[in-house]
Amino acid sequence: MMTTATAAKAATQRILAVASGKGGVGKTWFSVTLAQTLAGSHRTLLFDGDLGLANIDVQLGLTLDRDLASVISGNATLAQAVAPCPHGGFDVIAGRSGAGSLASLSPARLSNLMSQLTTLAASYQRIILDLGAGIEPTVRTLASYAHTTIIVTTDDPTALTDAYAFTKLTALRDPNADLAIVVNLAENHQQGRRTYDTLLKACQNFLKISPPLLGVIRRDRLVREAIRAQSPLLTRSPNSPAAADVEAVARQLAALK
Ligand SMILES: Nc1ncnc2c1ncn2[C@@H]1O[C@H](COP(=O)(O)OP(=O)(O)O)[C@@H](O)[C@H]1O
Ligand SMILES: [Mg+2]
Repeated sequence: MMTTATAAKAATQRILAVASGKGGVGKTWFSVTLAQTLAGSHRTLLFDGDLGLANIDVQLGLTLDRDLASVISGNATLAQAVAPCPHGGFDVIAGRSGAGSLASLSPARLSNLMSQLTTLAASYQRIILDLGAGIEPTVRTLASYAHTTIIVTTDDPTALTDAYAFTKLTALRDPNADLAIVVNLAENHQQGRRTYDTLLKACQNFLKISPPLLGVIRRDRLVREAIRAQSPLLTRSPNSPAAADVEAVARQLAALK
C-alpha cells in the first residue's frame, strides 16, 4: 500500500525536455513513445516544442482545431489547445508545421508561452517537451524550463558532434543541469553503449561532467511501420524491441531520481 508520503513523491511534477542538436535522430518518435510509456503511471502532457517544424500531430495522425499557432495568434489559450491523444493515454499540445511565426517568436512572447505552460503543468505529473533540432537560443530557452534534459543521439558522427555541442552549451549555462543521454537507432545494445562511451569521454575530458546513459534504443522496422500507420508504437506493436527499449529508459529515468 502506498503511504501518503510516497504518494506525494510519486505525484511530483516533472518537466523533461528531449533535445538532440541534429534532426532526424528520432526525437519526436521517442518523445511520443516515452509519453505513452509514462502515461501508464503518471498524468502526462506532450508539448510540441519544435516550433518551426512541428510534427507530433503527423506522427499521431491527429487533426486538431487548436494548436500552438492558435495560441500565438490569440485565438486560444494554451489550456484550450490541449487535446487527448486517442489510445495514447496522454494529452498533447500540437504545433503547426511551417508556422514561421512560432519559430521566430520574440523572447517576450516565448517567455509568456512558457509561463502559461508552467501554470498548465501543475495539473500534470510528467511534461515532455519535444524540442526542435539545432542549438539556437529558442531551443535552449525552452530546454531551460525543464528539470531534466534528455539528449538523443545516434552513432552518426554528426549526431554525436551536435549532441556534444548541445550538452556543452547547456552545461555552460548551468553547470548543475540535469542531463541524460539516450542512444537511438542502434544496431544492438553493445554498439549503442560504445556510442555513449564516446560521448561520455568527450564530456568528461572537456566539460568535466558525466551525464548518465538512460538507455539504448535499437533500430526497429516496427517503428517506421507505426509512424506510417500514425499509431503510437505501444498501441500497434507493444512487444517490439524498440518498445521494450523505451520502457527500459522510463525505468532508468525513475531509478535515477
Ligand atoms: N528506433 C528506431 N527504429 C527505426 N526507425 C526509427 C527509430 N527511431 C526513429 N526512427 C525513424 O527516424 C525518423 C525520424 O524520426 P523523428 O522522430 O521525426 O526525428 P527527429 O524528431 O529527431 O527529427 C522516423 O520517421 C522513423 O522512421
Ligand atoms: Mg522532431
